[in-house]
Amino acid sequence: MKNKKIVVANWKMNPTTEQEAKKIFLGIKRAASKLSNIQTIVCPPFIYLNTLNKLYKGHRIAIGAQDVFEKKAGSFTGEISLGMLKLNDVEYVILGHSERRALGESSELVNEKIKLVLKSGLNVILCVGELERSDHGEHFGFLKDQILNSLKGINKNYLKNILIAYEPVWAISGNSGNKATTSENIHEMVIFIKKVLSDKYGAKNTLPKILYGGSVNPKNIEDLMLGGNTDGFLVGAASLDAEKFNYILKITAETK
Ligand code: PGA
Repeated sequence: MKNKKIVVANWKMNPTTEQEAKKIFLGIKRAASKLSNIQTIVCPPFIYLNTLNKLYKGHRIAIGAQDVFEKKAGSFTGEISLGMLKLNDVEYVILGHSERRALGESSELVNEKIKLVLKSGLNVILCVGELERSDHGEHFGFLKDQILNSLKGINKNYLKNILIAYEPVWAISGNSGNKATTSENIHEMVIFIKKVLSDKYGAKNTLPKILYGGSVNPKNIEDLMLGGNTDGFLVGAASLDAEKFNYILKITAETK
């Protein structure tokens, strides 16, 4: 994974049927399995993990989950455990997505979940991002707190198992009408996130890869790729259409 770009498909609560899920996945597989310089990670709803897992065994596509519960087992109605995810060969878990934070998940809880996932040997995709951009730069402080609180007590040995997805909440397609932030803004925030991480962990350590998420689509991918200075992308809405997603993969693979 070291020198690869990362592209994550976050399907959220879609699609409605298993048949559609298979179709999108097989469509993505066609392109992703040919790209040696990209790690594609598909994160379907829990109910499709098992099915998708059976459709592909290989190192160029990995399966991820969109969340996990913080306790190992017990009386927790409606939740899913890490053990259940592992039995379905899940390799990555998205944690701290803004849509989960909006339901009340704090950075402290995200931190608890991150520790559980890392200790079990899986990888974390930690989502962070400000709710709005402020003319006075308050979003920098907000982001820094989110990162530091989410990573509290996490040892540097685990950095290689963490991806950070910078997702400004206001730029996520459901909130923005499909309008991403500019590549200049992304570049600036990537530098800021790297600074926060290197202040915490020391610049000598290999820091987590940084992805951008928020209305990534075929129209803006080239610009985001050229100017954003990221290690890849987390794609929501456009990942439900294999043709659109594969175009995003192609541009990410081809652009230096
Ligand atoms: P979007 O979603 O690509 O639809 O904006 C990204 C995300 O919320 O992870």
